[in-house]
Amino acid sequence: MARIGIFGAGYVGLVTGTCFAELGHEVVVRDVVPEKIEALRSGQVPIYEPGLEELLERNRSRISFTTSVAEAIEDADLLYVAVGTPPTYSGDADLSAVWTVVDELPQVGGNPIVVMKSTVPVGTGEKVRAALDARGLSHVGYVSNPEFLAEGTALRDFMNPDRIVVGAFTPEHGDGVEELHAALGAPVLRCDVASAEMVKLAANAFLSTRISFINEIANVCELVGADVEAVAKGIGLDHRLGPHFLRAGIGFGGSCFPKDVSALKQLAGNSGYHFQLLSAVIEVNELQKRRVIAKLQKHLGRLRGKTIALLGLAFKANTADMREAPSLVIASRLIAEGAKVRAWDPVADASTLLQGVTFCDDVLDAVRDADAAVIVTEWPQLREQLPTEEVRAAMARPLLVDGRNLLDPAAARAAGFAYEGIGRSGSLFETLPETAEPELHL
Ligand code: UDX
Repeated sequence: MARIGIFGAGYVGLVTGTCFAELGHEVVVRDVVPEKIEALRSGQVPIYEPGLEELLERNRSRISFTTSVAEAIEDADLLYVAVGTPPTYSGDADLSAVWTVVDELPQVGGNPIVVMKSTVPVGTGEKVRAALDARGLSHVGYVSNPEFLAEGTALRDFMNPDRIVVGAFTPEHGDGVEELHAALGAPVLRCDVASAEMVKLAANAFLSTRISFINEIANVCELVGADVEAVAKGIGLDHRLGPHFLRAGIGFGGSCFPKDVSALKQLAGNSGYHFQLLSAVIEVNELQKRRVIAKLQKHLGRLRGKTIALLGLAFKANTADMREAPSLVIASRLIAEGAKVRAWDPVADASTLLQGVTFCDDVLDAVRDADAAVIVTEWPQLREQLPTEEVRAAMARPLLVDGRNLLDPAAARAAGFAYEGIGRSGSLFETLPETAEPELHL
């Protein structure tokens, strides 16, 4: 059993802290926001993550919350840094919160290990090591231990990791972090600090590349009459490729992929290398969000005065997270085209992010008098709720643009809807009876 201080009660810090408590470790989570600490002390979890509240409740005796650095580091064996590293305008990662933790670290006794969980540019560990040494904290260890949690499945991802990555300057410090995860029984990659930092960025960049690749394949499928769902299955059956992250759609979003792809591209650029592939991954992703507009114009012509229902706003299902959500771009494009936008999401609140959008409490209200409905987030309940007589009757035109290939095209068509997916065959020839000649604005 170890004693762990965690800096940052955000997504990564809370999930990591709660899961370490579940593994039997003593955990103190420190955050600079008093309201967040108050809420957590009273059992409220300030993020939407399935199962987190229950797991936290079950481990109350082993996890506590504080704004005090002293409490977090008291007798701690490991000091996890799990603060946010959001992108700056240049695409570099903003490390100010990381340096605040490092610079605020008081002279500590014992031999605690600072463990970096936040996603940081390659080379950060080296700089932190130097800063600690310069402050007479050379007895404090440093290890890079990147996380691979996905929102919506974070607890499962922590407790059943594909691998644990441990990057260390000295093997003993790496051993300490490896032991912490022993109960998980997962493969452990032991390496140097810079390589561990690169594993994290490269993993997210490669997953993003797969998504942009399958999205481009989808766009070609539309032009040649193939079905990307079948193509993705055919690709995924190759053991060298595997089926994951081959779901075509309207582009990736979230707090990680866009940021990490830009950060890696920027890191390469800062080091004198032009990472062309990532430039394309980013550009493809931005264009993919906008293809929805072209699909709507193909069926509806000029969008001015048309009513479009956006179903789902979060960047993906099972989260309330709006960071880099494709819905933000789609809604803004529609408004720029003069369309009226009605939107629904079961948990995400975009009211402070989107002006001029009517937010609706349920799907039926959102599609009322709509000229088209667009599935933006793959909320599973849409499978039952959407291709129904009730929805068709409520809409002005029964047009469904499925930005996540969530529905069965045949079922939607059988229910009397015109259906347009992403890279799905048949959508080329599908038009609404009284469609005017469309004008394309990407
Ligand atoms: C991701 C990584 O999966 C995780 O390992 C890392 O630690 C953090 O970043 P997350 O951002 O929560 O996790 O979401 P993820 O499920 O990876 O989806 C990211 C985006 O890609 C979403 O917008 C999702 O809709 C999109 N996506 C994902 C696709 O468009 N197609 C796919 O096949 C998979």
